[in-house]
Amino acid sequence: MAVNLGLEDVVVAPSSICDVNGKTGQLIYRGYDIKDLVENTSFEEVVYLLWHEDLPNRSQLDELKRDLGNSRALPSPVLDLLKTLPKQAPPMDVLRTAVSALGLYDPDGRDNSLDASRRKALRLTAQIPSIVATIHRLREGKDVVAPDPSMSQAASLLYQMTGQRPDDYTARTMDVALILHADHEFNASTFSARVTIATLSDMYDAIVAAIGTLSGPLHGGANEQVMRMLERVGSEDNAEQWIRDALARRERIMGFGHRVYKTDDPRAVVLKEMSRELGERTGSPQWFRMSDRIQAVVLQEKGLYANVDFYSASAYYVMGIPIDLYTPIFAASRISGWSAHVLEQLENNRLIRPRSDYVGPRDKKVVPIEQR
Ligand SMILES: CC(C)(COP(=O)(O)OP(=O)(O)OC[C@H]1O[C@@H](n2cnc3c(N)ncnc32)[C@H](O)[C@@H]1OP(=O)(O)O)[C@@H](O)C(=O)NCCC(=O)NCCS
Repeated sequence: MAVNLGLEDVVVAPSSICDVNGKTGQLIYRGYDIKDLVENTSFEEVVYLLWHEDLPNRSQLDELKRDLGNSRALPSPVLDLLKTLPKQAPPMDVLRTAVSALGLYDPDGRDNSLDASRRKALRLTAQIPSIVATIHRLREGKDVVAPDPSMSQAASLLYQMTGQRPDDYTARTMDVALILHADHEFNASTFSARVTIATLSDMYDAIVAAIGTLSGPLHGGANEQVMRMLERVGSEDNAEQWIRDALARRERIMGFGHRVYKTDDPRAVVLKEMSRELGERTGSPQWFRMSDRIQAVVLQEKGLYANVDFYSASAYYVMGIPIDLYTPIFAASRISGWSAHVLEQLENNRLIRPRSDYVGPRDKKVVPIEQR
């Protein structure tokens, strides 16, 4: 049996949701290039696209927006649970716990028919941003902000976090960030979700597994680590030496490298521009400049390109988003892709059960316990 450590280059299933071309640096969702989607659609249109085969028409979009808006409020027992959880707990852990709890109150229960799963996908996509915002409000000792059903997903997330209605520029910036994070083929968390649903468990089981998988620093947790690194670097002047020293110590630089992209990650290209523009608009260009210097050194020294997590960190930072919410916000977007993959897996399911290459000993005999 051939062994592919980390399933590198192993193709597990056909999928018509998303394609990543690591050589040309192209990302498409159901046939549409990510750049086209960023320039010409909203996150809600992308959610519809991922769940269906094409972009929505006006009435389909209006219906989706209405349904999302009307599904954002959290069931009161989940709100009560959130109030009892430790305020200093990592938000990804709280999110995982709250999503698991949400499953207990979903009117469709453990029904994993396609129709019920679609309804669960909608509720989760509406409610995960509410959970993220609520975690933040509660730990700050502030009142929970009731969602405004008329707002977009992006605007509502910011509104529920801050209690302030975001201006159009800020809301659109978050909207673009959500589009960029919505799906990425068989990344680790999506694969977790597909493995989990493939046992015919249910949408909530799959999404809880995906959240746990996303949290690690080699995956979605990298964006938080990037910002912690930028804080340690401290200044543009310090950046080059700091990174050279870290590379000399053979440290992994968060936000660089990718299993599939061996060229520019197209999401990072958009986020880089976003980080630059936000830095200038907010009068804090140093985080972008520091990042830019770091990118040049890592490319020169290691031939590694920035990934989605690198420039999202400095962009979110100057938007005033707390660092430990970066990965939960990733989840608030990726729920759309995770759920699309769960639906696709259910439509044509086969249990996912690979083999290991056993390299342990054989032919041992049990020694009675007193003699061991
Ligand atoms: C994403 C990632 C896990 C992909 O890893 P992978 O496909 O398993 O590749 P490997 O870890 O085998 O790396 C291949 C080589 O590049 C090096 N490398 C990869 N990413 C690196 C990084 N971020 N910093 C420094 N070196 C890195 C590895 O040390 C290895 O070098 P070696 O062959 O001399 O040992 C990896 O690039 C990484 O850890 N990046 C940082 C975390 C991150 O940003 N994650 C978000 C991904 S979107």
